[in-house]
Amino acid sequence: MSVDVIVGLQWGDEGKGRIVDFYAREYDVVARFGGGDNAGHSLVVKNERIALRLVPSGILQPKTELFIGGGCVVNPGTLVEELELLSKLGVDPRRLFLSDRAHVVLPAHLEADKRREAERAQPIGTTGRGIGPAYADRASRSGVTLREYCERYSTPEARRLAAHVVDGVAYIHERLGERKRVLAEGAQGTMLDVTYGTYPYVTSASTIAGAACTGLGVGPGMVGRVIGIAKAYCTRVGAGPFPSELQGGEGERLRERGHEFGTVTGRPRRCGWFDAVAARYAVHVNGIDAVVLTKLDVLSGFERVGIVTAYAPDGSVETEYLAGWAQDVRGTRRLADLPLAASRFVTTLQNLIGVPIELVSVGPERDDLAR
Ligand code: GDP
Ligand code: IMO
Ligand code: MG
Repeated sequence: MSVDVIVGLQWGDEGKGRIVDFYAREYDVVARFGGGDNAGHSLVVKNERIALRLVPSGILQPKTELFIGGGCVVNPGTLVEELELLSKLGVDPRRLFLSDRAHVVLPAHLEADKRREAERAQPIGTTGRGIGPAYADRASRSGVTLREYCERYSTPEARRLAAHVVDGVAYIHERLGERKRVLAEGAQGTMLDVTYGTYPYVTSASTIAGAACTGLGVGPGMVGRVIGIAKAYCTRVGAGPFPSELQGGEGERLRERGHEFGTVTGRPRRCGWFDAVAARYAVHVNGIDAVVLTKLDVLSGFERVGIVTAYAPDGSVETEYLAGWAQDVRGTRRLADLPLAASRFVTTLQNLIGVPIELVSVGPERDDLAR
């Protein structure tokens, strides 16, 4: 039982990156198991933002190894850019390992992504990073693996990445054999999963905890804890169902207070109340052991805070409102010190989700966490 998994419980951007950074100190390897540079995982250190798209969010732990698993699709240009960023941050590039089985996102995939979106009567609102076409080529057996790419292509990018490519299965099993602890970092969120999300408004990969096994090449018996990350409200970038979406003032206030603009595309994120129905569903399909709640600070100052508790057959939703709180909670480090109304909100969510909330994030900085 040496692979713990962190996944998003909503539509992505739950704050997985900063929470992975927090847990990473307890692990020897942080591994991405799916997705590509459609992901944008931010860490904030002393007001400086580090936005990662492919490299796992364990970079700030000095000794942690970083692994990109076979379930990922890699845009070589993005990865080379990120390697430059890492060297600026003083991160030893030898800590980064790439599975030979990951697939490559080629320029033709980016073009196809844009073309297919333009052709759709109802566009999905993809990130335009070629992710769908790259996974489609993998499934139709015409894709290019990283191994092939580094062996056959003589571009500067391919030569640069070759130094990091390893036999991904041997890599992870050698570490597990040495009793090293592995943290699997999910990308996107449960509701964007290709099978269990709001299809067809999803990404093209499996994003749930089970995908950590297929994406890293380990059996289910190796999986230990599964931690789900949920925001204290909901956001979604791109088109598709969003039952708790707020159209008016409260939604705009969430967007402004939460700086809800896409890391990758800069698009404004759609905002809505916490959706307890979707969260319970996500707990089931992932097998969640514990939840981390993020961005609680964003709700400070709302007169009331909503929680969607049921979907009606006619497509409307039932929303329960709790009293809000005026106090800034960013300095709070103990859950017991939260304002009473905030504490009631957290407890209500915990009861509705049915899983313990073990950590609450109250700001973007590394230590803005309450336990
Ligand atoms: P990820 O894709 O799940 O890693 O999430 P993103 O990094 O795309 O989006 C989360 C955003 O919220 C980032 O800008 C974080 O810096 C920020 N953030 C994370 N946790 C908190 C929090 O508790 N409070 C506030 N105010 N911002 C947070
Ligand atoms: P992180 O890891 C939020 C969304 C896109 C679009 C749909 C399909 O930062 O949480 P794609 O380019 O994957 O074909 O787009 O999925 N999407 C995300 N939304 N966070 C993400 O990643 C996302 N990755 C993809 O907006 O609706
Ligand atoms: Mg993100």
